[in-house]
Amino acid sequence: MENELVIVLDFGGQYNQLIARRVRELGVYCEVRSYKTPIDEIQRLAPKGIIFTGGPNSVYDESSPHIGAEIFDLKIPILGICYGAQLMAYTLGGKVETCRTSEYGKTDTVYDPAGKLFGNVPEKAVSWMSHTDYVSKVPKGFKITAHTENCPAAAFESVRRRLYAVQFHPEVNHTMFGMAMLDSFVKNICKCHGNWNMKNYAATAIEQIREKVGRGKVLLALSGGVDSSVACALLSKAVGDQLTCVFVDHGFMRKNEGDEVEAAFRDWNVNFIRVDASERFLSKLEGVSDPETKRKTIGEEFIRVFEDEAKKIGKVDFLVQGTIYPDVIESGTGDAAVIKSHHNVGGLPAHVDFKEIIEPLRLLFKDEVRKLGTELGLADYLVWRQPFPGPGLAIRIIGEITREKLEILRDADLIFREEIAKAELDRDVNQYFAVLTDMRSVGVMGDGRTYDYILALRGVTTTDFMTADFARIPYDILEKASVRIVNEVKHVNRVCYDITSKPPATIEWE
Ligand code: XMP
Repeated sequence: MENELVIVLDFGGQYNQLIARRVRELGVYCEVRSYKTPIDEIQRLAPKGIIFTGGPNSVYDESSPHIGAEIFDLKIPILGICYGAQLMAYTLGGKVETCRTSEYGKTDTVYDPAGKLFGNVPEKAVSWMSHTDYVSKVPKGFKITAHTENCPAAAFESVRRRLYAVQFHPEVNHTMFGMAMLDSFVKNICKCHGNWNMKNYAATAIEQIREKVGRGKVLLALSGGVDSSVACALLSKAVGDQLTCVFVDHGFMRKNEGDEVEAAFRDWNVNFIRVDASERFLSKLEGVSDPETKRKTIGEEFIRVFEDEAKKIGKVDFLVQGTIYPDVIESGTGDAAVIKSHHNVGGLPAHVDFKEIIEPLRLLFKDEVRKLGTELGLADYLVWRQPFPGPGLAIRIIGEITREKLEILRDADLIFREEIAKAELDRDVNQYFAVLTDMRSVGVMGDGRTYDYILALRGVTTTDFMTADFARIPYDILEKASVRIVNEVKHVNRVCYDITSKPPATIEWE
């Protein structure tokens, strides 16, 4: 099978990852690269097509990202989107000006059916625009193939040079027929076949891992989260019992979770070690109520436990990391303030002796990781697991953690999850959980006064977990959960629902 690659050159647009995902949805492998990628590197990659992203700048700003004109002579088809379209026009001798009226949002657009991108698009449809500059004159040899009321060159092309440009965003759902346009670019213009899928990916990855590992020993820290579980499944198929998975149970998992993770991997051909380290973690956290101290203590202790286990196994050759593609794209950009120190199970231990790291999911987006998990036969429970923070329930108990509080939270959280599942909301609400506050309130039960904990429920909808909206869970479902929790869980007499979004709140309470 020919390796087909399309690259997205990133000029700072907010939709860079979305474009890559859309191309992958069309069955063509796609990577995001910086616009600074040297031209010989691009030639070496030999992509079948290149897409320029949008960006917040104006081509006339000296500081805005530019690109050498030689890229247009590589004879590789290029599609410029938004800023990418303006940059193409500007670099090749066209003219870009500031719009008298900026276009933002859904915009009526007229397409020329003879335009190579628009063969399967009606003559009039809505596109999604977001721009303050526009191309007022296309470069010589280019033909205009779409326009709107305020944008005379909403799309233009030079079929001879294999160069295409659109001012709107075909990758955004609001652009009607956007996928049809991308499909025309990728399949008709770039001549890709579109046979990249998770079945082929799994087969190739397994082969590559086998080749790399040989007879070596592989170690993986399994958290039970989607990424480490899928990595485990993939490695298991590739190298079987050369793989040892260490599942550190810190005692802050949800109800039955440790057993479920163990059960899911029991029949896989791997050495599975479950370490019950709950005593160790609880004693380290005695008297600790500050959220950052909790996180740091758990992160450090996790590494210590993992190292102790690794020592028992002896020298390993490879350590597996569950890095996924968004981490790869985003790494290196960040000098953002630390809001919370994230503890990611699988962080690099300093005292484990290994030769090399394997990152088998490095090229995949989250939804692809899930598809791969299903392809490999992983239990639905693990594939569709909602995100669960590394420090677990420890950061969902406000204040000091005790065994009793853990019990209360586990039971309440299970009830909430059951009610959400019964209402079939478990794939619509992206994350939902219970938080045990440090506060008590007065209640009345039977004929008696109670003075017990206030429990909070949280549900959010989000695509990237960087921002989130509180989920509009119907009142009757919240009521069912609340009634059950107060009746079935001792020491909770009041239930609240968190109606804050992120920002200003965060998803977790600590
Ligand atoms: P926040 O609370 O920062 O959470 O809005 C965003 C997302 O990240 C998860 N989260 C973590 N994940 N290690 C993780 O692997 C952590 O330490 C951690 N803290 C928060 C959180 O559950 C949400 O999905």
